[in-house]
Amino acid sequence: MIVHDLPSSTTRPRSLRKALVAALGVLSYPHHPDRYLELADPLLVTSANYARITDVDRNAVGSVTITVRPARPCRPLPGQHVTVSVRVDGVRYTRCYSPTVLDAGTEERPDLRFTIGLHPEGTVSRHLHDHAEVGGVVELGTPAGEFVLPHPRPRRLLFVAAGSGLTPVLSMLSGLVAEGYDGAAVLLYYTRTPEHVPRRDELDALAARPNVEIVHVHTRSGEGLLHGRFDRAHLTAVAPWYADTPAYVCGPPELLEQIREVYTSHGSGTMVNSEEFALRTPAVSPGEAGGEVSFAASGIVAGNTGSTLLEQAESAGLSPEHGCRMGICHSCTAIRLSGCTRDVRTGDVDSEPGRRIQICVNAPVGDVAVEL
Ligand code: FES
Repeated sequence: MIVHDLPSSTTRPRSLRKALVAALGVLSYPHHPDRYLELADPLLVTSANYARITDVDRNAVGSVTITVRPARPCRPLPGQHVTVSVRVDGVRYTRCYSPTVLDAGTEERPDLRFTIGLHPEGTVSRHLHDHAEVGGVVELGTPAGEFVLPHPRPRRLLFVAAGSGLTPVLSMLSGLVAEGYDGAAVLLYYTRTPEHVPRRDELDALAARPNVEIVHVHTRSGEGLLHGRFDRAHLTAVAPWYADTPAYVCGPPELLEQIREVYTSHGSGTMVNSEEFALRTPAVSPGEAGGEVSFAASGIVAGNTGSTLLEQAESAGLSPEHGCRMGICHSCTAIRLSGCTRDVRTGDVDSEPGRRIQICVNAPVGDVAVEL
């Protein structure tokens, strides 16, 4: 792995850096010193956490894996996500990704490794896939998320992941190994073909542990012990004890639903813990998608298409602040002034005027006005 040291300025004692920033504040008035520091080196900025890309791996088909070294503390728990922001053609885009915390770096600022699945329409994933390079910079948010392992650790754990849903699960498995977990852990990992498997070295190293089993399932290749899309028989084959074992699942909604169904049939649906990386569509049924959506602050009114308010705002030419587009990061909240919206994750409808809603996971039902 190629590792570039951070500029020496980022490793100076904090007190000296604080004094320098204070002095710069006087010189740069009326602007914040960050405005100038960002031009010199984004990692010097005090109001955001930038991270230097130290490694880029494009060996797996359909994803890119980047390793970054943050300038400021950022230590997610295994399974948590952080927002990653990049600039594409001068516009800042933010998405949520779950990193693996690595041994490299410092206790407070460990290196983080993200595997980012390439989505054909994904601005950020395509940008990182095509353009991420060693020495480049991304901006990180604060770790968040409830997709974490319980305490005390269960004696057995089942993990199921698909595609880039591997990263939080890999982070959990690595964390378990690092803390000396001696229970049994099984990972069922779905990819299209062997060529689509990212981070093969890390997976193989984990699989070499006596208490960790990793089973690759390819949906478009006959190789391996199991193939095809998820099936109850897969669980029976690799973890016949699964019904009384907590499951940690990360992948598309269909996979999560299928596993929850299987567990629910045993009366243990609550043992499934999940993180989705795509929203279900359509947002509302065609019958609900009438009326108009008013974007009050911009004075734009558009016909309600039934998709989420974020998508409809973008279609109307607006660029609302947003991050994960999945209801996780809360960076897209806006005030619903009137009308009714449906939470596309739960199906719940709500019409209380003046409520702040996440526009990426709320779709208008009939006429709606929102403060955008
Ligand atoms: S964009 Fe993250 S919650 Fe809406």
